[in-house]
Amino acid sequence: MKRIVFLISGRGSNMAAIVRACASERWPATVAAVISHRPGAAGLAFAAGRGIATATLDHRAFADREAFDAALAQAIDAHAPDVVVLAGFMRILTPGFVQRYAGRLVNIHPSLLPVFPGLHTHRRALEAGCKLAGATVHFVTAELDHGPIIAQGVVPVLPHDTEERLAERVLAVEHRLYPLAVRWIVEDALSVAGGVVLHRDGAAQWLGSLDQSAGSPG
Ligand code: GAR
Repeated sequence: MKRIVFLISGRGSNMAAIVRACASERWPATVAAVISHRPGAAGLAFAAGRGIATATLDHRAFADREAFDAALAQAIDAHAPDVVVLAGFMRILTPGFVQRYAGRLVNIHPSLLPVFPGLHTHRRALEAGCKLAGATVHFVTAELDHGPIIAQGVVPVLPHDTEERLAERVLAVEHRLYPLAVRWIVEDALSVAGGVVLHRDGAAQWLGSLDQSAGSPG
């Protein structure tokens, strides 16, 4: 059984989607812990309610990023994870931390990387007049919102979209995309060569419906 540890900052809806898929699809994996750097993060209550170990490591209690990341690594390693899943974890990680978990640290970002790394992705997509938006699951490297792309989910940008409506449509595809990608990892179904991630059976590494009448991924 592969062991999964989540890092969250708040709502934790992506974490919840993965936890549910892991149980209902009977993955060869167990969710070992959910760790937040924000006390009271909503996702912690969801995890505790499912009997999953939770921990809070308040970043404000640490002198600097290195000290926090060292303590975080200790908390993670106590659960001996095979995969560390960043699920809305809104902190910049030190290169040492990223190196420690190289190849088993994954993130989801609400844009079609490499466009729009960083914050306010939906606003930036609307301002740029993009006709497509989406989310990306990727292996984490030292560069923010960067690294080998495991899977992407795509949604149309509709006329008169607002940031909120677009975010909602992208989040719906995130909730299907991230479980799919993490499942591939726990099944050892991926290979990385020259920075390109491929599924061993050639499974399509993207999701979404571009049917504008539906207005949401289907
Ligand atoms: C998600 O939309 C995720 O893609 C984004 O934060 C949200 C977390 O929601 N992550 C990033 O922006 C990382 N750069 P959740 O807590 O409900 O999963």
